Amino acid sequence: MAVNEEPRRMFEVFLQRKLNVLHGAVLGSGKVTEQELLEAYRQYQDDGEIRVPAPDTTERNNQRLIFGSAILLFILVATPLISIVLEQAIATRCLVPNNYLVWEATRPISDCDFCRGVHGPLIFGNLTKEEFRPYAYSSQPIILKNAISHWPATKLLNYTFLRDLYGKIPGALDSVQSDCQFLHFKSNFLTLRDVFSMSQSRAEFRKGELPWYVGWSNCHPQILTELRKLYPRPHFLPDDAEMPNTDFIFLGYEQGAVMHLDYIPRLMWQAQLRGNKSWVLAPTPECDSQCKSFTFYVEPGDAVLVDTRLWYHGTYVPKGEFSLTIQSEYG
Ligand SMILES: [Fe+2]
Repeated sequence: MAVNEEPRRMFEVFLQRKLNVLHGAVLGSGKVTEQELLEAYRQYQDDGEIRVPAPDTTERNNQRLIFGSAILLFILVATPLISIVLEQAIATRCLVPNNYLVWEATRPISDCDFCRGVHGPLIFGNLTKEEFRPYAYSSQPIILKNAISHWPATKLLNYTFLRDLYGKIPGALDSVQSDCQFLHFKSNFLTLRDVFSMSQSRAEFRKGELPWYVGWSNCHPQILTELRKLYPRPHFLPDDAEMPNTDFIFLGYEQGAVMHLDYIPRLMWQAQLRGNKSWVLAPTPECDSQCKSFTFYVEPGDAVLVDTRLWYHGTYVPKGEFSLTIQSEYG
């Protein structure tokens, strides 16, 4: 038994020291006197438990009411905010609508080769196909100045043209919702039908109106055929590069896309048809110590090429200005 007594004695000594420290701390706080502690000890000896005066019942009920109201208020306030944040995240991704966060959590870790030593885009004039070939499949961001300024779309494509085109082809508007993809970004439009139903005053972002910025994919064959009459396949892309049967349109005022990665199978090109747009590019977080973020802007007539699968990217349109772009993939 002596073997078991020693650990017990050591534990009692340890406990006694801890209680002494606690005793000193309680007295040191000034909130309890030695006399009050003595009284509590006497009561403990009388009936075997330390009695702490119970809060008044009314006070406890009030505390519960306040606590309950605070939780209810939090739910009422937080639910719409969480909903907005999730909607924004979902509305910003370029593909794979329902599992952006899963993709982000499971994407391969970058080896940082794509961004090491890159401090900005390569800026060229209007290169020929042969001149562009060495850079065609690079992850280095590239701007080709004035490469698409000859496209009829730079003059003919605008909000009114798109509204009229979608309005006259039966089923085209609904196809964006059911088969294509609509991105409302920060605007309050839920569908392309909402976009084309706004007042002319707001469409032109006249004084006092809210800015808007939206994007969608053109997967309706007839719409795609009509629109592609206004812009050719970019002349600088390699002949063997595949392009999807879907192009994206982005247009609107002031706003843009928050930082994100695209979960798309190919490289991306974007033609700046109207207005200026600024881009922010950032390496993936695991490359932060080796690579740099940077910004650049494109002007009407420019083509921009970015591997948006590797570079986090966000865009914004300068205050008060309108931007219209066509975007697609190649690879
Ligand atoms: Fe994107």
